[in-house]
Amino acid sequence: MTDAPEADLPELDDTPIARAAETALRVLAGRVGDPLPRPPHTRVLTVANQKGGVGKTTTTVNLAAALALQGAEVLVIDLDPQGNASTALGVEHHAEVPSIYDVLIEGQPLHEVVVAVEGIAGLWCAPATIDLAGAEIELVSLVARESRLAKALAAYSTWAEEHRDGRLDYVLVDCPPSLGLLTVNALVAAPEVLIPIQCEYYALEGVGQLLRNVELVKAHLNPHLHVSTVLLTMYDARTRLAAQVADEVRTHFVDTVLRTTVPRSVRISEAPSYGQTVMTYDPGSTGALSYLEAAREMALRGASTEASTVPSVPPAPSATPPSPPSAPSARAPAAPMSTASAATAVSAVSATAVSAANAMPAGSARGVEAMAAEASGTPAAGPSSAGGSAVVPEGSLEEDSHE
Ligand SMILES: Nc1ncnc2c1ncn2[C@@H]1O[C@H](COP(=O)(O)OP(=O)(O)OP(=O)(O)O)[C@@H](O)[C@H]1O
Ligand SMILES: [Mg+2]
Repeated sequence: MTDAPEADLPELDDTPIARAAETALRVLAGRVGDPLPRPPHTRVLTVANQKGGVGKTTTTVNLAAALALQGAEVLVIDLDPQGNASTALGVEHHAEVPSIYDVLIEGQPLHEVVVAVEGIAGLWCAPATIDLAGAEIELVSLVARESRLAKALAAYSTWAEEHRDGRLDYVLVDCPPSLGLLTVNALVAAPEVLIPIQCEYYALEGVGQLLRNVELVKAHLNPHLHVSTVLLTMYDARTRLAAQVADEVRTHFVDTVLRTTVPRSVRISEAPSYGQTVMTYDPGSTGALSYLEAAREMALRGASTEASTVPSVPPAPSATPPSPPSAPSARAPAAPMSTASAATAVSAVSATAVSAANAMPAGSARGVEAMAAEASGTPAAGPSSAGGSAVVPEGSLEEDSHE
């Protein structure tokens, strides 16, 4: 990273284009605004939404890059067999590369698979290879199958204290579009959940089910888990629909939603094909600027207090037919998210969507419930619990029983 003095930057007029150009120069010079305040401890955020294509990966890699460019030490964990985050960060992830699969399944130390991301100081990545596609099945027979990422991260922290130049500030985990064991591992490893929501008609499809699973994991496996951040993505300011969806989301998720929205931007979607984030691909673009701003906002507000952001379990999804997203009767009063309001919120807003249960991969909701029930010693009904190995209670992470 260049360390040119401030005076090297040319003076520019105070116009939007000039400001964008100036930001671009600063990004390229490795110097974007004031450094962010360091969080008091490493913040681990799981970026989850089982709906596909809502911007999980794009948000993970660009937020991570934006945080790193503003002085933070950031690790991206690619937990999606598609390996999109690895691609976007220009990190090798062909079959022979040591990857997060080896960490989860073989128990390889995380620090042995983490690599530096080229071109952005302070940004690191644990890549995913195609092997990870089999991990959902392989994990089932392993001891403490839900806590393996948490265990690896804890060991990484200990290793980092001795071998790294300081601890990490952020860990962002990019989840696959499902609620299987990989996502459960991420939820167990992180206190914070970041939900990207696409500003489209079916925006909240499945969010109710995600919140139910967050609540289950919180109850049985990770008491610190909470939804700390919601980010509106692919916002198209020209459409009323985007504004309506954003309004709806803000009404119900209140302070959890970042003020910054990420616009729909061609530059954002082009960047991965160059193995780059938009932060380096086109640092002056609106997409890059919005992720810089979102990162700053996220860092400044810090982890929200658990009390105000705990997600709630909405009622079981009904077969309510879709209705317009802005139906006034669907709105709960704007107040901090409580169990009741969240339930109303999600069920009301998800009335715009098909049933969350229908949107789930077959059996995955029951799977999480069964896992949680097993973990707490409660017998769980249904095929996913049948024949499932007993889960070792938290804290007793012994050797693998992997065959
Ligand atoms: N703000 C944006 N503007 C334009 N295109 C975007 C934006 N955000 C994401 N995209 C594009 O939308 C597509 C889906 O985004 P992304 O891969 O981040 O979603 P995802 O939730 O990670 O998907 P999956 O569920 O498959 O993992 C990608 O082609 C991406 O480039
Ligand atoms: Mg993705």
